Amino acid sequence: GAPRPRLTFLGTGYLGATYAICFAELGYEVLGFDVDEAKIAKLAGGDVPIHEPGLDELLRKNLSAGRLRFTTSWEEVAEFGDVHFICVGTPQRADGMAADLSHVESAVTNLAPLLKRKALIAGKSTVPVGTAEWIEQLVRRHTPAELGVEVAWSPEFLQEGVAVEDVLRPNRIIFGVKSEWATAMLYAAHKGVFDLALTEDREVPVVVTDFATAELVKVAANAFLATKISFINAMAEVCEAAGADVTQLARSIGYDARIGNKFLRAGVGFGGGCLPKDIRAFQARAQELGVGEALRFLHEVDLINQRRRQKIVQLSAELLGRGYGPAGPDLAGTRITVLGATFKPNSDDVRDSPALSVVRKLARSGADVTVYDPEGMDNARNDVADVTYAKTLTDAVSGADLVCVLTEWEEFRNADPNTLSDLVAGKRVIDGRNCLDQAVWVAAGWEYRGMGKPAVA
Ligand code: UDX
Repeated sequence: GAPRPRLTFLGTGYLGATYAICFAELGYEVLGFDVDEAKIAKLAGGDVPIHEPGLDELLRKNLSAGRLRFTTSWEEVAEFGDVHFICVGTPQRADGMAADLSHVESAVTNLAPLLKRKALIAGKSTVPVGTAEWIEQLVRRHTPAELGVEVAWSPEFLQEGVAVEDVLRPNRIIFGVKSEWATAMLYAAHKGVFDLALTEDREVPVVVTDFATAELVKVAANAFLATKISFINAMAEVCEAAGADVTQLARSIGYDARIGNKFLRAGVGFGGGCLPKDIRAFQARAQELGVGEALRFLHEVDLINQRRRQKIVQLSAELLGRGYGPAGPDLAGTRITVLGATFKPNSDDVRDSPALSVVRKLARSGADVTVYDPEGMDNARNDVADVTYAKTLTDAVSGADLVCVLTEWEEFRNADPNTLSDLVAGKRVIDGRNCLDQAVWVAAGWEYRGMGKPAVA
């Protein structure tokens, strides 16, 4: 068949690094670009800067196969690529809820003037609707018309911890395009994904649509997921007041296929580099479009999510028999161990982590906080400096008056409460992810509090 296009991935953060490596694995010639020389040196040396299961091995394999290279040179990118995927970050702006598009702009305005032949610039980053049109204008301004450089949008849906699987075996692919040529280029750039699916007797649904719809698919999906989590956390609040059990509630409603049982785990709420910032940027964009009312509920989704973090502090005061001062619960002199720092297990990512947010709140209330996480310690230390970091689970719980499990790592789920009993000063546990076997902990003599469940103890 036709030769496969050569692919570049601009920005080698979570998204770009994973895509570059996985598409090399699918057989493409790939060039990864980043402005961060240290990051590029690491990747070129076979070292993945993030913790993502399976990625290290694929990086080294494809570097040695010669299909995968990394660069900090825009000239090299322009010369190499047929399809350039924009994978740079779109963080929340410091001055509000909107997305910061400066990295996107810089990628396009650096690359476009250097292009010498027809190419496709395809966005993957999560952006406010309208960005692809704006990029098309930037490209027109920075490239000669006769080159015919085109723009497309193809959002991604990878989840940290299973990112390799999500890229190699996506549950759908979206092409936001304006021409047959762009559609054909995107099909060619994803042929490896379709071929793999064929060999495994799977089908990957493709939606070919316009720019705006493609951009919206991504934020709509994340808004829905965030809403689902806040819905069940709102039910947890009601369960707490009514003496009901949200885990049994979630299980029961989840049997209805229209509702489904996924993403209905009540707990300390959602965090990470995507959901929190995406629902805020989406609201900001809706305001600009004059339809702020349509997304007002996302403000509630955010508030419910924040309240779950505060709930852990309240429960801590309750379990430790502490009262409230003018600035909230007074936890002075208490020793609290927080298990978990990352925003979810199997990741070292602490961006907007509910666990670390609770750590900060507990410390502010005067508690002496010790933190332990299997993978997130270095990142956590950079984020929250003035607490104690323990080297092991055992060290962490030694002498604690209260243990809070805030990320559902297997190491915590499998911990034996009988063994831990001898180490702590007080057998009190808050299960902020409803991930512990309540009966086993209670049988071991622990006072147990879950999220959205009646108190046991
Ligand atoms: C998310 C989307 O799932 C993904 O499709 C998108 O591309 C990027 O954002 P990710 O940020 O990796 O992926 O994490 P995800 O697994 O979705 O979890 C987000 C947060 O929600 C975590 O803090 C997790 O602990 C929390 N969560 C998830 C719940 O509290 N309850 C649940 O039932 C599910």
